[in-house]
Amino acid sequence: MTALVEPRRSGAREREAKPRRYLMCPPAYFGVSYRINPWMRPAVPVDRDLAGRQWDQLRATYVALGHEVEIIKPAAGLPDMVFAANAGLVVDGKVLTARFRHDERRGEEAPYRAWFATNGFGAVRTGAHVNEGEGDFAVVGDMILAGTGFRSDPESHDEVAEFFGRPVVSLRLVDDRYYHLDTALCVLDDEQIAYYPAAFDDGGRVTLEELFPDAIRVTDADAEVLGCNAASDGYHVVVPAGAHEFGEQLAAAGYEPIFVDLSELRKAGGAAKCCTLELRADAAKPRTAQRGSHTQGNAS
Ligand code: ARG
Repeated sequence: MTALVEPRRSGAREREAKPRRYLMCPPAYFGVSYRINPWMRPAVPVDRDLAGRQWDQLRATYVALGHEVEIIKPAAGLPDMVFAANAGLVVDGKVLTARFRHDERRGEEAPYRAWFATNGFGAVRTGAHVNEGEGDFAVVGDMILAGTGFRSDPESHDEVAEFFGRPVVSLRLVDDRYYHLDTALCVLDDEQIAYYPAAFDDGGRVTLEELFPDAIRVTDADAEVLGCNAASDGYHVVVPAGAHEFGEQLAAAGYEPIFVDLSELRKAGGAAKCCTLELRADAAKPRTAQRGSHTQGNAS
């Protein structure tokens, strides 16, 4: 679906880090035993201990930045459960939980739903259509960008718009290496994004150009190390190691890139953002004021 939204201009605004609350799942049972995206090669061995150390480093990085990290207990037999971003979308303390495209991941739905239900989230709705949570939904200020083409059904975009009461902008992904929106697009703050243009169809590229004229365009080489799968707090951007030019682009735009090596998790097609689900304004544990005063829209 499309929505009437003003172009976001980020200009030379000062960057501001805002504390976040994240949900993560340790990779205790991580592995690549099936293939549901081109990164996954079950014949290539995975070093689970190394994956664990890399994941610990990611979590420690968030904690050092002042973010709060909640942990869900991993379950045996669910090797992709480490990719918490896919479990749902949380906005205003409301949760739409995932309905996975592939049977291999459907077992993750119940434990994540149970976690939301027992951790103070009032409105928890089970997705009626296939949706892979923040894998395909990106919150930018008051609007939500939504990916489709490989995983989430377009019907889930309407469900998100209706459930959260926010404008949703649909974007079609066309390259199977970038099967989730968060493998090709990263939200930097309430007005600014970075994205890899070739991952989108013509319509998607035009939409992104119109909405985000100042966006960072990620290069082929940086996209290929899953550089777009980054997590920003508005100033610090946690970026998968190896995305060198993206780091320079971020610094030039006033952000601070922080590189984290997630090479083992990349064997499953995931990196920093995939391991991270943002819990936005959980009513049960309010953060120091949700900022609603941020100026939105055209800066000119
Ligand atoms: N192996 C997982 C899958 O293909 C990786 C998920 C990565 N998560 C993400 N948010 N992109 O479903």
